[in-house]
Amino acid sequence: MAAVVLGALFLASCSSDLPQSSLNPQSVEAEQIDRLWDLVFWIGFGVFVVVEAALIYAIVRFRKRPGDEAEPKQVHGNTRLEIVWSIIPVVILAVIAVPTLTTLFDLRRPAEGDFLRVEVIGHQWWWEFRYPDILDGDGRPLTTANELHLPAGTTSELQMTSADVIHSFWVPSLAGKRDVVPGRFNYLKITPDPGTAGDMIKGQCAEYCGLAHADMRFRVFLDGESDFEAWSAEQLAASPVPTEGPEAAGYETFTALCTTCHQAKVETPEGTVDVIGAALGPDLTHFGSRTSIGAGIEDNTTEHLAEWIDNPASVKPMSPEMNDLAAGRIMGMPDYGLDDQQIAELVALLEMWK
Ligand code: CUA
Repeated sequence: MAAVVLGALFLASCSSDLPQSSLNPQSVEAEQIDRLWDLVFWIGFGVFVVVEAALIYAIVRFRKRPGDEAEPKQVHGNTRLEIVWSIIPVVILAVIAVPTLTTLFDLRRPAEGDFLRVEVIGHQWWWEFRYPDILDGDGRPLTTANELHLPAGTTSELQMTSADVIHSFWVPSLAGKRDVVPGRFNYLKITPDPGTAGDMIKGQCAEYCGLAHADMRFRVFLDGESDFEAWSAEQLAASPVPTEGPEAAGYETFTALCTTCHQAKVETPEGTVDVIGAALGPDLTHFGSRTSIGAGIEDNTTEHLAEWIDNPASVKPMSPEMNDLAAGRIMGMPDYGLDDQQIAELVALLEMWK
């Protein structure tokens, strides 16, 4: 029974269909890490086999047999043997150290040539992504939240920092884990395989950062070149200010409440583009184009969105009572006690903003 339970636990880790696995590398960098893992694994496996074989041999060959009363010969030290079992590990560790250091230095080297710059800002408990080289007519960078788009086959360099506490950015299939620390910049290179175009890969915060740490997730979309260009053009555009229907009523509520923390770039029917609201929470300009809500925890459906606006804390643990707007600190979305109609209007507005 114990063997069955242990076997099941052991074999469960062999599943290849896991959403976040570094054993399923999809980028140049993740493949480098995976090769290093393979090398260390097989060397470790070889050592295990040799040591266990020697142990079993010694147990069987030198076991006490019936009628064996004499004490075995007592030995203290064997210089030749000790030199051999000191030198072998030194050689093995040297063999591991060379590719380990090469990989480490390689992954830390700044991106060269043609690469895309992305700024990653960790917040309690969501991710902000900015593209400093993709600007609108007024020089504002493309800004989005919780869903990162990267061109497949091209290197992107992520410049990462935090607005509050230490987080850690981790997409196991694309890159190693890297801390996201307030007051400093850490960098991470990702070169997704060209064949990943059209794929979505999940990631998540990997450093305990408070109440909703486990729900500080994100999705990485790997786009073909033309898809990435279409996506960035779409995201740079302003969203329309609705003039009629439930969307217009939703816009009233939006500007009365949501803009306390959320920002949106909007365009009036007359063609005036304006950025409204405060950039304390996720930018909502193209919220309707995102596939998830609440930092990647649920799919972006009408039902989930209504539930989220109605009672955010039921979807994700947060502490909005600790919000300090003057200090620019947001710890969660408050429940404004909106009625069903107001919620439906807000949902209509946000779904219109593709
Ligand atoms: Cu952010 Cu854990």
